[in-house]
Amino acid sequence: MPGATAQPIQDMRAYLEAQAGKDLLRFLTCGSVDDGKSTLIGRLLYDSKQIFEDQLASLEKDSRSMGTTGGAMDLALLVDGLQAEREQGITIDVAYRFFATDKRKFIVADTPGHEQYTRNMATGASTADLAVILIDARKGVLVQTRRHSFIASLLGIRHVVLAVNKMDLVGYDQGRFEEIVEEYRAFAAGIDLIDVAAIPLSALEGENVLTRGAHMPWYDGPTLMAYLESVEVGSDLAERPFRMPVQWVNRPSADFRGYSGTIASGRVACGEAVIVSPSERTSRIARIVTADGDLDDAVAGQAVTLCLEDEVDISRGDVLAAASAPPGVTDQFAAHIVWMHEHALMPGRSYVMKIGSRSVPAVVTDLKHKVNVNTMEHVAAKTLELNEVGVCNLALDHPVAFDSYGDDRATGGFILIDRVTNATVGCGMIDFGLRRATNLVWQEIETGKEARAAAKGQKPCILWFTGLSGAGKSTVADLVDRKLHAMGRHTYVLDGDNVRHGLNRDLGFTEADRVENIRRVAEVSKLFLEAGLLVLVSFISPFREERKMARDLVDEDEFLEVYVDASLELCESRDPKGLYRKARSGQIMNFTGIDSPYEAPENPELHLRTGDMDPEAAADAVIAELRTRGIL
Ligand code: ADX
Repeated sequence: MPGATAQPIQDMRAYLEAQAGKDLLRFLTCGSVDDGKSTLIGRLLYDSKQIFEDQLASLEKDSRSMGTTGGAMDLALLVDGLQAEREQGITIDVAYRFFATDKRKFIVADTPGHEQYTRNMATGASTADLAVILIDARKGVLVQTRRHSFIASLLGIRHVVLAVNKMDLVGYDQGRFEEIVEEYRAFAAGIDLIDVAAIPLSALEGENVLTRGAHMPWYDGPTLMAYLESVEVGSDLAERPFRMPVQWVNRPSADFRGYSGTIASGRVACGEAVIVSPSERTSRIARIVTADGDLDDAVAGQAVTLCLEDEVDISRGDVLAAASAPPGVTDQFAAHIVWMHEHALMPGRSYVMKIGSRSVPAVVTDLKHKVNVNTMEHVAAKTLELNEVGVCNLALDHPVAFDSYGDDRATGGFILIDRVTNATVGCGMIDFGLRRATNLVWQEIETGKEARAAAKGQKPCILWFTGLSGAGKSTVADLVDRKLHAMGRHTYVLDGDNVRHGLNRDLGFTEADRVENIRRVAEVSKLFLEAGLLVLVSFISPFREERKMARDLVDEDEFLEVYVDASLELCESRDPKGLYRKARSGQIMNFTGIDSPYEAPENPELHLRTGDMDPEAAADAVIAELRTRGIL
């Protein structure tokens, strides 16, 4: 196999071009720790001579010094070694490897098997056609096996190889093999994994990986490699309606304007009618430009720049699509979500949704249920924890183009990103849109914020007081309010205790309820701001993310975060409402500072240490800050 090697991902394109004539199978491997996954992949690469000679030399050396096979070559070391290299550089720990045989070329996504690595598994699965699910013959079908299979199915994989490994350790027993296969098939049928090929093997001994051994004469199916070389996965991407998310608008000069991206599905030809989603403007393809010259037509997988016959307003994130079969447009979805972060999903919290090449703020409005991966039962849930899978509704700030994930992985899949840390926290698959966005439009109101503020002769702004219970938020806010009022300013105070008597009467003090509490009061304070008022908001608001969300709702100079800072000891000694005492004696649960966290502001506009200043001085400091900022 000329040029066939295990190389870093960067070389993949060049390599694939060299192998262009053969068809490509993308697959992923998943299994639990110690299932022998590394040994299996090592075996596939090694036995099919896919390893550089210098890698081999170091492998032999390493096997002698650190291997677990008593001097024989430890193939797991090869794979794990490559893995360690990659771990230094990249955040998502999926190892892509490629190799080719005479019949086919392959890209393997190798994903670590630990429980917390569901993220990696989902990343690998989103581009794969087939999953090799590894089972240790001694252990049989585990929770992990079910979880990985379910996620693979959710991510659109329909073909599974059940690789029952370590057959040598169960005496190559046919009965044991069949027992495992039967249990797995019963489970797989319930999650739409129809095509399951079960292969008994020993990666360590090389039985049924590339070659057939002498130990399992009762098995007459193909070896793993023979199966991978011949399985039909029938990708119909090219036959789907045309979709291309616009990666960037290419405008080198006034007389050229093209839209660049990779065709996600379908094909496109010059002269064809296209629609721009979500704006739903239409035009026709004038040119298909590539680095190697113009084309008459292009197909899924190709990177192209499309020029249109008309001047249409298109930006990054828009989707170019077949006018005859446009994608849906909506700002509300039902979707499956796989949660990938230690910090649970909170309904009501604002995340950034990345769908295609577009990013848009999104909130889970309704978590309908989560799925027990063992039984596939639906379980009621308030949050989604790490590795859990749930079904929910999401609302976006703006409408986007979409397809259901079942129709198109590229336009139906998305990830959720934490707004503060930028970490990828979840991935999702759109089931269906909940309404056409155009059914709800923004009603323009003639008299705007500026006019309302001008009528009051003031510059509106939100003063967001945050801090522990008893830190002095309400006291200071009340004093500031009185001073402003005395100056003839138009103000309003939103206080946690008061708002919880009315609008937020239905909310308690769980993390999820506090998120919703702050979401509502942030929206209300924005409305008051638009009424032209100086709004004083006094809520514990313990989480950075929600304070940031409140800030992001309005213009930069309209939001002042005031950290009312007093130590827990001080607040507890003040205990104005006797609540700390109750919390300590266990009468109140989830009390901020005691058994519920408070995330102090990192860069507040104003930091008031109320242990060192009296309320009057604190209020004066706020007024002075308003003067400095030109609000007064
Ligand atoms: S927040 O965390 O959701 O922002 P909010 O400011 O609305 O809290 O309400 C806090 C007030 O509720 C406190 O001042 C206190 O009087 C009362 N309270 C009752 N139970 C709790 C609790 N478990 N934790 C914090 N405050 C509580």
